[in-house]
Amino acid sequence: MAHLLELRRLRKSYGPGTEALCGVDLAVDRGEFLVILGPSGAGKSTLMRCINRLVVPSAGDVVFQGQPLEDDGHSLRAARRHIGMIFQSFNLVKRLSVLTNVLAGRIGYKSTLSVLCYYFTREERGLAMDCLARVDLAHKAHQRADRLSGGEQQRVGIARALAQEPQLILADEPVASLDPKIARNVLGYLKRINREEGITVLCNLHQVDYAREFGDRVVGLSRGHIVFDGRACDLTSSVLAEIYHGGPATAEEV
Ligand SMILES: Nc1ncnc2c1ncn2[C@@H]1O[C@H](COP(=O)(O)OP(=O)(O)O)[C@@H](O)[C@H]1O
Ligand SMILES: [Mg+2]
Repeated sequence: MAHLLELRRLRKSYGPGTEALCGVDLAVDRGEFLVILGPSGAGKSTLMRCINRLVVPSAGDVVFQGQPLEDDGHSLRAARRHIGMIFQSFNLVKRLSVLTNVLAGRIGYKSTLSVLCYYFTREERGLAMDCLARVDLAHKAHQRADRLSGGEQQRVGIARALAQEPQLILADEPVASLDPKIARNVLGYLKRINREEGITVLCNLHQVDYAREFGDRVVGLSRGHIVFDGRACDLTSSVLAEIYHGGPATAEEV
């Protein structure tokens, strides 16, 4: 069967001398929990944003469910519906309720008018409550989003992505603003959703510890190049040196 997602010779340049992605090839299968590991500036966000075309690639293809993604409105909108995104800064609407924030995950399925009127059906509200239950936050549904702690807000971010009924979740440094204990808790929810529901997750991280703990497969990105693609347990110090310094280094430097 075809891969869920394939990147073929993907390049992105933001201008002369800023090659953020230098011809990335990557195939992701259904059900994988894939960590993209790399230091700041490696190209992780660019890679993720090229997948749902928040960033337009300079060259190469993104193939999702066997279909190359192009900039014609219809097929892109259809693909985006099935790709949930989770952000470092949560991106919730602070003054709205938790439930309304989760319902925002449905907007790709709705008309502009019903979105503008905040009109959601009983079924959609039921689905949103179910998504909140999957991150153990059903009891906070009617609170304002900004009353929740950071970890809880990111779980709302996960619930919003789930409300899309996604085939793929893209999480761009989802725990970079959280303390380690909370970060592990949030990554645990993502992992559980991956394991128990079979939803494919791509997760950008810059911390090796979390990649080791949560990644099944880890892709190491350095200056726009994939320099490692393997199991988390095979992240040796020389591999880490290559990811973090762009070349071989001694273990002490890692
Ligand atoms: N909008 C942009 N305009 C110009 N350069 C950018 C832009 N976004 C990212 N870059 C550059 O592209 C490279 C990769 O950035 P990014 O994808 O954000 O990496 P990461 O998420 O791994 O930190 C960096 O050199 C960064 O400065
Ligand atoms: Mg980034």
